[in-house]
Amino acid sequence: MDKDRPHLREDEVYLGNARLPTAAATRSKFARLFTDPSFAWRALRYACGMPVRMQTEDRRVLESVIFPYLAALPKIHNVLFVGCDWYTKHYGRTFFKSKNYWTIDFSAKAQKFGAPQHVHAPLEQLAQYFPEAYFDLIICNGVYGFGLDAPEQCEAAFQQCYLRLASGGYFAFGWNDIPARDPVPLAQIAAFDRFQRHTVPPLGSWRYLTDTPYRHTYDFYRK
Ligand SMILES: C[S@@+](CC[C@H](N)C(=O)[O-])C[C@H]1O[C@@H](n2cnc3c(N)ncnc32)[C@H](O)[C@@H]1O
Repeated sequence: MDKDRPHLREDEVYLGNARLPTAAATRSKFARLFTDPSFAWRALRYACGMPVRMQTEDRRVLESVIFPYLAALPKIHNVLFVGCDWYTKHYGRTFFKSKNYWTIDFSAKAQKFGAPQHVHAPLEQLAQYFPEAYFDLIICNGVYGFGLDAPEQCEAAFQQCYLRLASGGYFAFGWNDIPARDPVPLAQIAAFDRFQRHTVPPLGSWRYLTDTPYRHTYDFYRK
């Protein structure tokens, strides 16, 4: 067991900037270049500045259903995407090209995956960088349980999101509904009570559980 992160399972590893744990992630990138063809292909695409997709069901839902739906909503101009990694680097130019797209991440290592407009800070400090009611859409996927772990951190972060959203703005929240990644747990975070649940028609609900072993779930709220 990781003594600093007792919520992780035996088969999970914690990497510096809280990436998804996989068996492959424990091998060196150099070794994977020569032994893992799909990794080598992704590395080549990344080096050429091309979009690199993570091949999972939750990512498919996010990229082919949720992003197109959110981007097409009326009056969506200022967008914040929380938490950056190699597979999110192209999100601004691919899915939110006509928007004023920002990213935020508290890890210095994640900066290279951020948008040209990137804030290097914890989500909990959003108020220091943007005025109230600035954003029309905030997307916080795979951050809760991946660095945003303590109750007071979560309350502050989601409270900041609420205040930085314009009236009628949208908050899309992706999380893994398993004990290892639901550290608070979620139902006890009072900041969510201020939002209204928002049904996303293509998914048929305000909450959508994807067909993944880690139970990745999308929740949708509106201010
Ligand atoms: C799993 S990764 C990538 C998440 C990405 N948004 C996605 O769609 O998969 C989680 C990222 O969230 C960042 N992160 C975790 N807690 C954070 C916080 N409180 N404020 C800002 N960034 C945070 C980590 O540094 C990491 O880069």
